[in-house]
Amino acid sequence: MNDHSVKKLPHVTTRKLFEMKAQGEKIAMLTAYDYTTARILDRAGVDVILVGDSASNVFSGHNTTLPITVEEMIYHAKAVVRGVQAETSRAMVVIDMPFMSYQLSGEEALRNAGKIMKDNECDAVKLEGGRVIAETVKRITDTGIPVMGHLGLIPQSIYKFGSYKVRARDPKEADELLRDAKLLEEAGVFALVLEKIPADLAARVTSSVSIPTIGIGAGSDCDGQVLVINDMLGLSTEFHPRFVRKYVDLNSIMQDAVTRYVDDVRRGGFPLEDESY
Ligand code: KIV
Repeated sequence: MNDHSVKKLPHVTTRKLFEMKAQGEKIAMLTAYDYTTARILDRAGVDVILVGDSASNVFSGHNTTLPITVEEMIYHAKAVVRGVQAETSRAMVVIDMPFMSYQLSGEEALRNAGKIMKDNECDAVKLEGGRVIAETVKRITDTGIPVMGHLGLIPQSIYKFGSYKVRARDPKEADELLRDAKLLEEAGVFALVLEKIPADLAARVTSSVSIPTIGIGAGSDCDGQVLVINDMLGLSTEFHPRFVRKYVDLNSIMQDAVTRYVDDVRRGGFPLEDESY
């Protein structure tokens, strides 16, 4: 049930993120895929909630982000937006455009970006890639849809690269990434996720562009940080990259609670009289 007594706060906008970069105020971003989690994140003061296509992995159990569809992203997005609206309504909500929803043509990309924006009351879309998608990004931003970029390890291209190892370690690749960042800035992105690249390269990108950078495994000099919520809450058990700080071991906590519940039910210890009518 919505709590209508919650105090509403000014919504985080693209302009606010620019101001935060200018003032050296760090941006806190996390992923969410459902209503309840979105409420918790908004209440805790998260600036940007990303409805990541990582839902394909951590929500649906696929090995990669590739299978998730536009319709499935919209389903998650609607739940997250409702969660934010039920709380302070402060957090910006960004939706990942899934694999093959923007690569075929600029027109197709615009149609899908428009559908994602129209079907939810979200704030922006996120696309992965550099020069290859710069024209598409421009087409979408020219239409008035804010776009967040994503460079470095781009999980939708995992089959091309064949591994999740750190990107742009060699100087040529690093220069290319820096060029891509500037191209995306020119194409109109309002912020840029930098995933799994050396910290000194992330720092170079951050000081070379006017848009905020948001790092994941990209060191502390980015303008903000993002993590996948399931990783930082310790819900994911098989994924332990060094950039994830586990703030709590929810997997063990939930296992324990459920084991005790099963035990209570089996021995007739639940429900008790005061839990019955
Ligand atoms: O899908 C996702 O969760 C992401 C983050 C890792 C940035 O793109």
